[in-house]
Amino acid sequence: MTAFKTLDDLTDLSGKRVLLRVDLNVPVKDGKVTDTTRIERVAPTIMELSTKGARVILLAHFGRPKGEAVPSMSLAPIAGVVEDVLDHRVHFAADCIGDPAAKAVNEMVDGDVLLLENTRFHSGEEKNDPDFVVQLAKNGDFFVNDAFSAAHRAHASTEGLAHHLPAYAGRTMQAELLALEKGLGNPARPVVAIVGGAKVSTKIDLLKNLVNQVDALVIGGGMANTFIAARGIDVGKSLCEHDLAATAREIEAAAAASGCAIVLPMDGVVAREFKAGADNETVAIDAIPADAMMLDVGPKSIDAINAWITKADTLVWNGPLGAFEIPPFDAATVSAAIHAAARTREGLLVSVAGGGDTVSALNHADVTDDFTYVSTAGGAFLEWMEGKPLPGVDVLKT
Ligand code: 3PG
Ligand code: MG
Repeated sequence: MTAFKTLDDLTDLSGKRVLLRVDLNVPVKDGKVTDTTRIERVAPTIMELSTKGARVILLAHFGRPKGEAVPSMSLAPIAGVVEDVLDHRVHFAADCIGDPAAKAVNEMVDGDVLLLENTRFHSGEEKNDPDFVVQLAKNGDFFVNDAFSAAHRAHASTEGLAHHLPAYAGRTMQAELLALEKGLGNPARPVVAIVGGAKVSTKIDLLKNLVNQVDALVIGGGMANTFIAARGIDVGKSLCEHDLAATAREIEAAAAASGCAIVLPMDGVVAREFKAGADNETVAIDAIPADAMMLDVGPKSIDAINAWITKADTLVWNGPLGAFEIPPFDAATVSAAIHAAARTREGLLVSVAGGGDTVSALNHADVTDDFTYVSTAGGAFLEWMEGKPLPGVDVLKT
């Protein structure tokens, strides 16, 4: 694996100011943070630095304010949540640069934790503007990036700073890179990928990359319908991107050329309504009624998918197999998740999963802790699966 400097290389930290990039882009509903997973993930890095005597200055974005100070996207309310998770005081500064930041940083003592306001309140953040980077860098002696989930962005606080200050990977970034290396970088074979979710259109690059990397590609969710339809099978009222039939055939051809098995559903659970508990029936894949839609893959497909998981040494998973948020159409996703978790617990499988919906699906199946690694990254995880370079990671390489 490529070498990164980590917190192990940061020993004498008393009196030192560490600019720590974290991802606090957490889900909020009615003003309340509904999931603190991302905060919990960076807590060990924050506390390790604080315990080592550093003055820990948190940099983060929230939402997409596009260079404006949008009050609803302030990080101020998040400071209290970070404080609760850490069980440690978190100070807050109303700007990430300029006087408010400088004043708050000057008031810090060793071990203090300070959160600076949303970096995206300045247009220089997303532009990776050198002047803005200099403004940020003024407040730190070291830069630590623990935000893998924002590493696909070449922004000032994710990429630019690493050119100005000695740069290190935080503990979560370190764990994530290690897990991803096991997943696709240098995996034990056979490698099976499960890709689900609604649309092929958002995952074309990912599918094209995977067929060259993995031994079997299981396609589920709405996107499977596009492949099935491209094989000339009628999918009724199922979600389907008919305009992507040629793309689907291209991906199948690329898979055949590289010896990657494409595993499509052979049966499906269909309904006439998209709602929990909707009347449903199981049909063969070539017998979907014209007025019905497929909401989950059927039991024969589940058996086939689980057999692939049994065969696999490594599993990479992004996207649910069915409409898991409306039971009983969660059956396939839950079954595969439980099977993968059991194989992992027995030490027979390395299982790496990521992406927003995937994390919810694995939480729903109650197996998140049993997987080798579950990434909270959305876009960054997809870009990694697409084989694209991640600027926030590349800049940390020594
Ligand atoms: C995320 O939530 O996926 C990351 O924080 C990145 O956010 P972004 O997609 O707005 O860049
Ligand atoms: Mg995103």
